[in-house]
Amino acid sequence: MDMKTKIAELTSETMKKLWPEAAGLPEAEELRGLLAVPPDPAMGDYAFPCFRLAKALRMGPPKIAEALCAGWDREETASVQAVNGYMNFFLNRENFTAEIMTDLAEKGEYYAASDMGKGKTVCLDYSSINIAKRFHIGHLSTTVLGNSLKRIYDFLGYKTVGINHLGDWGTQFGKMICAYKHWGDKAKVEAGGVDEMTRLYVRFGVEAKDHPELEDEGRAWFKKIEDGDPEALEIFTWFKDVTLKDAMRVYDILDVHFDSYAGESFYNDKMQPVIDLLREKNLLTQSEGAWVVDLTEDKMPPCLILKKDGATLYATRDLAAAKYRQDTYHFDKCLYVVAYQQDLHFRQVFRVLEKMGYDWAKDCVHVAFGMVSLGGEALSTRDGVIVYLDDLLNQAIAKAAGIIDEKSPGLENKEEIARQIGVGAVVYTTLSANRIKDIDYPCDKSEYTDEDGTPRIRYSIDWEKALNFDGETGPYVQYTHARCCSVLRKAADWDLPAPDWSALTDDEAQTLLRLISRFPDVVKEAADKYEPSMITRAVTDIAQAFNKYYYEHRILDGEPAQAAARVALTRAAAQQIKAGLRLIGIEAPERM
Ligand code: ARG
Repeated sequence: MDMKTKIAELTSETMKKLWPEAAGLPEAEELRGLLAVPPDPAMGDYAFPCFRLAKALRMGPPKIAEALCAGWDREETASVQAVNGYMNFFLNRENFTAEIMTDLAEKGEYYAASDMGKGKTVCLDYSSINIAKRFHIGHLSTTVLGNSLKRIYDFLGYKTVGINHLGDWGTQFGKMICAYKHWGDKAKVEAGGVDEMTRLYVRFGVEAKDHPELEDEGRAWFKKIEDGDPEALEIFTWFKDVTLKDAMRVYDILDVHFDSYAGESFYNDKMQPVIDLLREKNLLTQSEGAWVVDLTEDKMPPCLILKKDGATLYATRDLAAAKYRQDTYHFDKCLYVVAYQQDLHFRQVFRVLEKMGYDWAKDCVHVAFGMVSLGGEALSTRDGVIVYLDDLLNQAIAKAAGIIDEKSPGLENKEEIARQIGVGAVVYTTLSANRIKDIDYPCDKSEYTDEDGTPRIRYSIDWEKALNFDGETGPYVQYTHARCCSVLRKAADWDLPAPDWSALTDDEAQTLLRLISRFPDVVKEAADKYEPSMITRAVTDIAQAFNKYYYEHRILDGEPAQAAARVALTRAAAQQIKAGLRLIGIEAPERM
């Protein structure tokens, strides 16, 4: 049992002993939620605010705190102190250490895992890239956040379904096919991938200015895709494959996976029942020729369902997608990891689902995140304020390889470790602050001349900062893990006796153990708030606490039973850092 639960149970027992007749006292489980961790360790390891009992006991909080402390007889677990209406607990170091170390030895990397999600399903819609567009830094947050949330929910025992809701629908694909038919070249598209498709699309825009009839042609091609014309579908499917092949390279580097790639076009034949139901429920009204769901009552603009020409919209597809996901996966929760800019869209969609009578609409959550900018400038593909993800990752990996060559030239498996460190730097930067905060990637700018001879500025990430082994970075945490592993390798050949836990009662070991003991709660809270940055914080704190310990104590020296305890602590730190990094999508190399 973890210490917090134990304190809660013992406090609950004490309360019942003191006031057997009182009604409305919190039970142990509720009490556990009320226990706070004082910001100043001098105030104890946990604090129970007695205000919560004032009404039930008709007593002032300071009196309650004093009575509770006087009635407390579990000194072997913690000593207590009443301060300003708080009951403060000071864990008995030896007892706490023995309990947590036993627990850690048993559970290892799964210490913070849980089966609370057993039998429940969470759908996660993330990354959701657009076809024929190059995967850029603007899609990094959704990809990395979604991937982390999926891992967190898996760790808590949920069944998860990762969905890449591809942006593979829209009139632009008609124009692209039209451009391809006029000026395209199969080999060029195969070789140039998404870049070549973009060039074709841009050319379409330029040519259509002088030849407006091209617009009709583009529309006709789009209609052909919609009607399932074999040639149109073949080209379109091919465009999709080429885009996905490019994206797959990025997903492979990041170790990000999906269970489904059902994108917007997947719902072509699944919208009619939704539209029929909207009609049946009298939810559709006509507005300037289009069909909408009026949301005036909810103080929102109407949700567009069908255009004047009968075409469906982004929202129509999302309504069908939500219903399909519920019918197929029976989700308990469906998360949409999408930029804050789409806030209104999701509020509208969720409200319409509710109006349709789906009570599971309340289980749909928009997990929004902030804007991304580069060196203070807003992203703009047109103005070249953009960093492509494959470039970004390849650069990070190359820089990491450079650092390895310098610091540990003899390292085996260098390429793979460079990948892990490079990815670690990028992912950590993305998940280090609250998701709703805007992220500005530190940026280097360099001038260059493009193929047409135009001078341009190239944006790239400032790797000095992101790859620093000493600052709060991914590589720093990874390095700490590798340091633990190096200690463990040295100890591996020793025949150590049973550990003497009293060797771990010093301040540094206790700080580290307290951080570790709170880690399971952090994981649950991160899931609750859809906030992987809480895990980034916790894992960084654990790494810092271990390093402090490492500098102050000689782990392998002295009395063997005491060394055994310090080695066990090192192992526990390594395991929890590794588990935490895994949850945010970062690997933990054993040597670097
Ligand atoms: N493809 C969209 C974009 O890049 C995101 C889609 C999010 N998911 C959804 N079900 N609408 O903006």
